[in-house]
Amino acid sequence: MSRGNLTIRRSDALHGETTVPGDKSISHRAVLFGAIAQGVSHVRDWLAAGDTEASLRSIQALGVHVERPKENELIIHGGKLRPADAPLNLANAGTGIRLLAGIMAGQSFESVLDGSKQLRRRPMKRIVTPLQMMQANINAVGGFAPLYIKPSVLHGITYKMPVASAQVKSAVLLAGLYAKGATAIVQPGPARDHTERMLQSAGADVVVDGDTIVITPNGALRPFDLTVPGDISSAAFLIVAALIVPGSDVTIKHVNLNPTRTGLLDVLQAMDADISITATGSEAGEPVGDIHVRHSVLKGVEIGGDVVVRMIDEFPILMVAALCAEGETIVRDAKELRVKETDRLAVMTSELTKMGADITETEDGFHITGPQVLVGTTVESHDDHRIAMSLAVAGLLADGETVIDEGECAGDSFPGFVDTLRYLGAQV
Ligand code: S3P
Repeated sequence: MSRGNLTIRRSDALHGETTVPGDKSISHRAVLFGAIAQGVSHVRDWLAAGDTEASLRSIQALGVHVERPKENELIIHGGKLRPADAPLNLANAGTGIRLLAGIMAGQSFESVLDGSKQLRRRPMKRIVTPLQMMQANINAVGGFAPLYIKPSVLHGITYKMPVASAQVKSAVLLAGLYAKGATAIVQPGPARDHTERMLQSAGADVVVDGDTIVITPNGALRPFDLTVPGDISSAAFLIVAALIVPGSDVTIKHVNLNPTRTGLLDVLQAMDADISITATGSEAGEPVGDIHVRHSVLKGVEIGGDVVVRMIDEFPILMVAALCAEGETIVRDAKELRVKETDRLAVMTSELTKMGADITETEDGFHITGPQVLVGTTVESHDDHRIAMSLAVAGLLADGETVIDEGECAGDSFPGFVDTLRYLGAQV
């Protein structure tokens, strides 16, 4: 799919209060879990974006009736799924295909799960292997989508995940709903825990003990009523924009502050960022609050270990912050970035280099010594929403004009990104 370009100019101070769209991870889960819950679930502030719409279309293709009184409100009539007429198309959505695979492995009919050219390049063996251990009949030629799934009797397993991945954990937990016996997962690090929280609130028997999660099948999920909080991974672009553009003062309200997602805030604070957080309550079983950010003189930082998984989607925008920081920023243990929508280490390094940046890419991270001067030019999003938005934020500080080829893919996770920047005062 070809998408339009974004053009960004050097910006004056950003000011004001705003919100961000609903959390993408929770929005995927809301439609997928709503589809298999026995009854009517109600979802408000749902993220209506490229990736999540693909999950929604898939459950509709599986026979689930969904009313949509507003763009961001869904009434999901869940229960029994029926075979789809054609392969399910998850577009660019890694979360959509991997979680749905766990569900489809437990159904009594065949399915084929597929997606865009980009999704077909992402590793699926990481879910195929544990699902096959559970005796699922799932195949992926060469370890890539399409995924071919046939009915089988699933058995509970104990699975020690080799990578800290919420998508893998979730695929196995969802298959565990349909298995004979309990399924235990041991995770090597604190991968986001929305699946555990949401399954528990829908009545599933999920017990978390440190890094071990055990699911014991106890019948169908109960329907639920939830309001999706704002996505911290979208707020991240506004946070870094406000930190690096001199004179800025921005508040982002009602953001999900689940500790498995807030690694970027910890790292930015260690970089001397002026960020204050006000807890305001909870939504969908997740802590929620407001984030107040003021322009700051950042300093370099070293990042590795557990915090990496708690900010795995935020490294493209962290690279931009590091370019503005005084001194050296060193990132390690972030090899997973190479298998996201794009190889985010390689793509961010090459695109920012076009803007005059000097970045040393390593096998599992990067080194940046700042501050550096950026120059506007034409760069490419590679159809990766987080690359597009990170380059846009870099463009706010670059001399002249930055054109992001196919930058409109920002809408895969943050519809209204450009309007929000404009509202805060950027010339976009
Ligand atoms: C997600 C998990 C993460 C993250 C992705 C969303 C999820 O991927 O990068 O954007 O909703 O479970 P991995 O689990 O593959 O690390």
